[in-house]
Amino acid sequence: MKTRITELFGIEHPIIQGGMHYVGFAELAAAVSNAGGLGLITGLTQRTPELLANEIRRCREMTDKPFGVNLTFLPALSQPDYPGYVRAIIDGGVKAVETAGNNPQKWLPALQEAGIKVIHKCTSVRHSLKAQAIGCDAVSVDGFECGGHPGEDDVPNFILLPRAAEELKIPFVASGGMADGRSLVAALALGAEGMNMGTRFIATKEAPVHQNVKDAIVAASELDTRLVMRPLRNTERVLNNAAVERLVEKEKRLGAELKFEDILAEVGGIYPKVMTDGDMDAGAWSCGMVAGLINDVPTVKQLIDRIMAQAEAIIQQRLRGLLGA
Ligand SMILES: Cc1cc2nc3c(=O)[nH]c(=O)nc-3n(C[C@H](O)[C@H](O)[C@H](O)COP(=O)(O)O)c2cc1C
Repeated sequence: MKTRITELFGIEHPIIQGGMHYVGFAELAAAVSNAGGLGLITGLTQRTPELLANEIRRCREMTDKPFGVNLTFLPALSQPDYPGYVRAIIDGGVKAVETAGNNPQKWLPALQEAGIKVIHKCTSVRHSLKAQAIGCDAVSVDGFECGGHPGEDDVPNFILLPRAAEELKIPFVASGGMADGRSLVAALALGAEGMNMGTRFIATKEAPVHQNVKDAIVAASELDTRLVMRPLRNTERVLNNAAVERLVEKEKRLGAELKFEDILAEVGGIYPKVMTDGDMDAGAWSCGMVAGLINDVPTVKQLIDRIMAQAEAIIQQRLRGLLGA
């Protein structure tokens, strides 16, 4: 399938694997790129720019296809060494960067002068237009369904994507709630040029996370996620568990008085405990409503081939058939 996104990134299928903390290691990024999509290493999971440089080298040893790096701009108090990470990305010869979390304007000239294509992840039309205005090459439009940070507007993709299509000139992918060939065809119909998936890629053989995480996603239904940290205007969609129930209870009790320190036990340093150790009740970890559509743990290649075959069958048979009738 050829779209403006496959052309932009030089990939075979219009499928991107979104940055995921403690999931987006070289193994997963390489598997996605080898299967014809765009795999992304999650920059900040590597604690220093030197470690990121090493992860980029490892990924290159596993694939000769294009892959990228996610660079998330955190609202954190202590800012990571962003200039160092950008340098590691450029020196590593990476050709695609997914930015997220905050306006990437400051870093665009350096990245784009190095020939890197930048796709910015946004949760609203207004932020997408801003990304276009500052010169991003594409956007990833992340609807309310998404795992991770859906923003504060709560607009689901059935509205957000066609609204983005009405306004944007640069290409965009649909992100949030995407799982299969049906998602891809729907995304294309709503004006996107491909799709970005997070949660779906965790439940794959190659995702370098504990088996408990994959099992939890397969077991979860579309009713099992919760929104947390809304009082801090840092809303995150996570899988429900004992720690999340405690967190939600604290949010109810403290209301507008809630401070980040109050919930540190439930959100601080959780990812290695969940993703590496498989301690599923350690705290709040991002997961999309799309868990309700995930029922198996295929290889990345099986998943991507299946998505493309299903998308093609829907277009060629079901949709064409409707017109022929
Ligand atoms: C476990 C997990 C960790 C994530 N970490 C990040 C991150 O560090 N940076 C980022 O930009 N997005 C992050 N995301 C969001 C994904 O890149 C993607 O936008 C989102 O998962 C799409 O929604 P979906 O899960 O419904 O596919 C994360 C998502 C998950 C599920």
